This record gives sequence, structure tokens and C-alpha cells, in this order.
Amino acid sequence: MTTGDLFDLPPAPAGAARRVAELRALLHHHAHRYYTLDAPEIPDAEYDRLFRELQQLESDHPGLASPDSPTQRVGGAVLDLFAKVRHAVPMLSIRTETDIEASGAVAFDARVRRELGLADDAPPVEYVAELKFDGLAINLRYENGVLVQAATRGDGEIGEDVTHNIRTIGQIPLKLPADAPPVLEVRGEVYMKRADFDRLNERQREKIDAGLKNEKTYVNPRNAAAGAVRQLDSAIARQRPLSFFAYGWGEVTPVEAGGPDFGTQYQALLTLRSWGLPVSDRTQVCNGPDELVAFHRQIGALRDSLPFDIDGVVYKVNALALQRQLGFVSREPRWAVAHKYPAQEQVTRMLGIDVQVGRTGKLTPVARLDPVFVGGTTVSNATLHNLFELRRKQLRVGDSVIIRRAGDVIPEVVGRVPPTVVRAARIEGADSEAAIDQAVAEGSSQRLAPRDPYVPNFRMPRQCPICGSAVVREKGEVNHRCSGGLFCAAQRKQAILHYAQRRAVDIEGLGEKLVDQLVEAGVVKTLPDLYRLGLTALAALDRMAEKSAQNVLDGLEQSKTTTLPRFLYGLGIRHVGETTAKDLARHFGRLDGVMDASVGQLLEVPDVGPIVAEAVHTFFQQPHNREVIEQLRACGVTWPEGDPAPRAALPLAGKTFVLTGTLPTLSRDDAKERLEAAGAKVAGSVSKKTDYVVAGDEAGSKLAKAQELGIAVLDEAGMLALLSS
Ligand code: IVH
Repeated sequence: MTTGDLFDLPPAPAGAARRVAELRALLHHHAHRYYTLDAPEIPDAEYDRLFRELQQLESDHPGLASPDSPTQRVGGAVLDLFAKVRHAVPMLSIRTETDIEASGAVAFDARVRRELGLADDAPPVEYVAELKFDGLAINLRYENGVLVQAATRGDGEIGEDVTHNIRTIGQIPLKLPADAPPVLEVRGEVYMKRADFDRLNERQREKIDAGLKNEKTYVNPRNAAAGAVRQLDSAIARQRPLSFFAYGWGEVTPVEAGGPDFGTQYQALLTLRSWGLPVSDRTQVCNGPDELVAFHRQIGALRDSLPFDIDGVVYKVNALALQRQLGFVSREPRWAVAHKYPAQEQVTRMLGIDVQVGRTGKLTPVARLDPVFVGGTTVSNATLHNLFELRRKQLRVGDSVIIRRAGDVIPEVVGRVPPTVVRAARIEGADSEAAIDQAVAEGSSQRLAPRDPYVPNFRMPRQCPICGSAVVREKGEVNHRCSGGLFCAAQRKQAILHYAQRRAVDIEGLGEKLVDQLVEAGVVKTLPDLYRLGLTALAALDRMAEKSAQNVLDGLEQSKTTTLPRFLYGLGIRHVGETTAKDLARHFGRLDGVMDASVGQLLEVPDVGPIVAEAVHTFFQQPHNREVIEQLRACGVTWPEGDPAPRAALPLAGKTFVLTGTLPTLSRDDAKERLEAAGAKVAGSVSKKTDYVVAGDEAGSKLAKAQELGIAVLDEAGMLALLSS
């Protein structure tokens, strides 16, 4: 290392020097991912751990200190892409209270009192407690009431001019009322609400699935917000819903020059609010440490139910005069502290992938994890959503993965930590920042070479892990499902309730609680078991007197006489709602006709498209389902059967369609299949004989031709409307 002899300090052991180089390289790499690319590879908590390790080593071995160490810098790099802004008043950072317990507030108060020289019996200090919003800091500069500039924090001294994007945030006033001072810099946090984040990622996934390159999903709302603010194209930023909370200020016209006299932090926030800036109403004045502790607890308890992420709370000395008296130490104010909550993202190892079957038969891959404390609880399972998500994230058993648990949602695996990031940074003998940079750059390019996304790794089982029925996935669907329906234990309760509901077979007295008990006790395994229930078995259940047991039996008896549409609907075949059940019953007249119909024959039913036809066919192909129906009939379930209705004319018979461009949701094949199922002909080129052209994105010459010939042009929605009319 370079510094040891320069400062005439005892040489540090080689191991420490190597680790310091390694940590600097790692932190350097991750700071770049975080601040410059808005694409972190590791959670903040992991970054903090590495940072603290480096701080510790540097303080244990002062010979290893270096002015360009990441520990000596405040913020991130400033991208050349944006104009640079020198902050009139530096944007400082804030000290973090390390004690995660609520009592951490006590340590802060003790420090403040000591530094103010307050006697033990002096009255409690007044604080303001605020939420610590998890977004990115922005400085808004208003001159004569007009928003003239918005800048990121950057390195604290120099930020990036992002005015064009910030102007798209509806919550940020472009103009202030007349009583605002001539110069006012408002500081606050730009963030994204969780619901907005979920919708954004949903849209991103659709784009990726549609084959759009250069699209990605975001790890968390903070990242998505940072990415949006640092977009070069404000049209893109505009599509990302951002929000804002003000919590402070920078340059303000001085009182002597007619500027506002805030007096306290709280008064300042109220004033900002009066000028139209959003201020959180969770902000609270607290007297002494006990009230800070109570605030920390109270917010901790409702953290999950807030509509946005917070990573802690912030305590500030309320009186600005006291703030001035306390001043700053290095680049942090002595009058404020951030008191964090357990991190919502952590790294752990994925030990395996299990498959769970949900109530509707959906198969969800679930990561089995090395247990990890995240968002306040220990998590040992996290959802992987579906096979496509898993592939997109290139996850494999054994990977180091990032787990996120935020809000009251199920913990999820948001990505993996590339193992080579760690390896790339293990550079022995790299003795300058430049050498480390280069080594990291080389390591990074190697790391960034993507794995083949279709590398054979985890596969969905072909058979349901619960019941062994075939696993199916419909065209255009991301979810795999168990086709076992009534036979599958995981779906049994749901299936029974569906069958018993009023609009289906209508079994009076058979409610959710009873079904739970019956299934859990193993008394009812399949629908026919319902009709085999006896009075003694029923009366033995919790909260079931003989009278109510008899009522259930009566309800069951009455339900045996039903109609074919009700029975078909009650079977719970996917995509078969009440209307489709009626259509099927009318078309075939008899249950056997439906059961034995081919996909082609099912497609002849008016309003039945390929998706429904496939679902009905698959359902009746399962021997279990046929067996269940046989037994229901044997138990006495009956309905009047009729004759098949004459084949109705298909609605689009005789019409010719041409498809062009990319449709928003349907593939070309799907659209074609649907049109054909409705009797239409789908042709390859536009001519006078064409009745409709269905045009999607980037439709080219065919669309032009259609317009030239005056042929009706539909978008996907128009086509679907036509199909369903
Ligand atoms: S006060 C000099 N108050 O947390 C004090 N910061 O380093 C300046 N943050 O990135 C910060 N909520 O953007 C303050 N209520 C709040 C905050 C807050 C979030 C962020 C801030 C900065 C970091 C503090």
C-alpha cells in the first residue's frame, strides 16, 4: 500500500492491507452501481456492512488511510450527462444512530444535552421527529416564487441538474404564493409509492416478455425513483409516478433582507406546507427522549402499512438557535440523527426451490432460504412468483440472493448477487486506486456477460406435487397450474366452496368454516364425499349441534336436484363462468356431450374461444375429474338433460382480417386463433377483399395500404370488442 511509509506509521499487516484494497474496490464498484447506474447489486445493509468494515480497518491501521478511500467521500459521482450544479449551501449527510432498539433515541438525546452543556435537571430538549423517507434527496430552487432549478445531492457540493424531470412531479409546485421569499431552496425526498412501484415493475415485466431489449425491472422503489429522476428523457420520467416530501431547506433570503424567520424546524415545515409543498403529517414535536422512543415504536408498528418505504425516523433539535449552537462535525449536523429500522433487503443463500399449490391451482416456485432477518422478521421462504420471473432473474439454487420484505407483502427474491462481483474485487497487490478501478472494470465486464437465460436450471414439475395431475400453462399465461381441480387437496376447500355457492349447486348451510373443518379432518376429500356425510360425523364437529347438522344434511339433499349449467359452473373449470356454463349446456344439451367434445367441437360453441375450449377439454381429460362426476351422479345428483342446440352461425363468418404490427397483449398467433374461432379468415396481405386490418405498434405498409383503400382499421381493443360483441 502507498500510505504506510509516507506517514511514518507502523506498517499494517499484509492481510489487513489486502482486505482494505478489496473493500475499497468493492465499495467503489457498488457506489458506482448505486449512484451512477441506479442499479445496485447488493442491498444497502450489505453496503453498510462493507463500509463499516473498511472504516474499522482504517481506524485500526491509520497507515492504510487514504484520501481517496470511499470512507472519505460523502455522496456519489456526478454524471457528465447532466449539467452540474454547485449547491449554494452544501447538502449534508446525517449521522445514523447505530442502536436499532428504540432506546437509540436516548443515546442521541444524551449527546445533545452534553454538547449543549445542559445540567441533569435542565428541562427536556424539544425535538422534531420525522419519517426517514427512502428515496433520493433533491434541492428545489425557487427564485421570486418560480421553480428555476432542481438538483440531486451529488457529492454534497455539486449535484446534477434534473429540473426537466422534477418538473413532471405533480406534487411539486412550479410557482409559490406571493408571500414566499425571493430566494427559497426547499430540500426533500423524491420517492415512489409502493403501489406505483409495483405497477411500474408489472409494466416493465410485460415489456421484457414482449421481447423489448434494454428494459429492466427495478429492485425497489428508491431505485426506481432515482432512475426516473436521472432519466435524460423527461418523457420517460413523466411515465414514472413520483412523489415528494419536503423536510428542510438550503439557501433562503435572510431575515435582514426580508426573508422568513422560521424559529424552529417545525415552524419551517408548517411554513413550507403553507406555500404548497408536501410535508408529511406524521411529523411530530417530541419533548425529551421518551417521546422520541415512543415515536420510534409507534412508527415502527405502522411501517408496513405506510404507502411508501421508510428506512427509519429522523430526530432533529427543534429550535434553530440550538441547531446553530450545536453546529456540525465533519459533514454531519450534531443536531440531527437518523434512527433506522431493520433493513428491508438482505442477502442470503437460496438453498432450494419448492413448489406450492395455491387455492386456485396456481403453482408458485418458492425459494427455501438460509434464514435471514429482514424487515423485522426472520424469513426462510420467499416467493419467486413464477417460472418466468425466476428465469429473468437468472436464479439458481446455491446463489446468493437479495430478499426484500416491505409492507405487508410476502417476502420476495428480487435478484441475485453475482458471485464474480466478489471475486473481481479480490485483487492482490493492487496498490493504487487506478489499478483497482481497472481490475474491477475487467471483473465487471466478465461478470456482466449474461448467462444464457434459457439455461436448463429449475423446471416446473410436469405433475402437481400435491395430487399428481398434469401441470398446464396456457398460451400467453405466465402461471403454471395444476389441472387436478377437484381432485387436488390444495384446491379442495376452494373447489367445495365454489360448488356449494348459491349461483352453482347451492348447498345451504355449507359455509367456509364448516368446509375448513371437513377438509382438515379428512372427512371430505372430494365433492362426492359431501353427499356421504352422516349425522354423527357432522354433529361431532366443532360448534355443530345436532340441529344444525341436520340442516346441512337437508341442504345437501335439496342440492341434488339441480340444472346442467349450475352443475357445470359448480365444477370450477378454469375460464368457465356462469355464462359459459350456460352456453355449453345449451349447445351440447347433455353432460356427456361436453365431456367428450374435442377442442374443435368446443370451438363451435358460440362465444367459446381457444382458451376456454382448451380449459374445458383438459379438465375432462383428467380421469380424476371424470371419476368425481361419475360418483356425484351415483350419489343422486341429477339435472334435466336436453338435445343439442343447432350449430349457431359464427359471428365473423365470411369476414377477412389482416394483422400487422405488434399488439399490446396478444401474440400474432393468439389473435389469429381467436379470429378464426369466430369464423373469420385471416389473410397475409391487404386487398380490396379485406374487411378489417388489426394494427399494433410499428405497423408499416399494410396499415398505409388499408388507409389508402379506406378499409376499417382496428386496434387490439377494437378487435376484442368485435369478438365479444
Ligand atoms: S435531514 C442536514 N430529514 O436521508 C440534514 N433527511 O443523510 C439533512 N432523508 O439522503 C437531512 N428523510 O435525503 C432529513 N426527514 C428527513 C429525511 C432525510 C429522508 C434522507 C436524505 C439523505 C439522508 C440523510
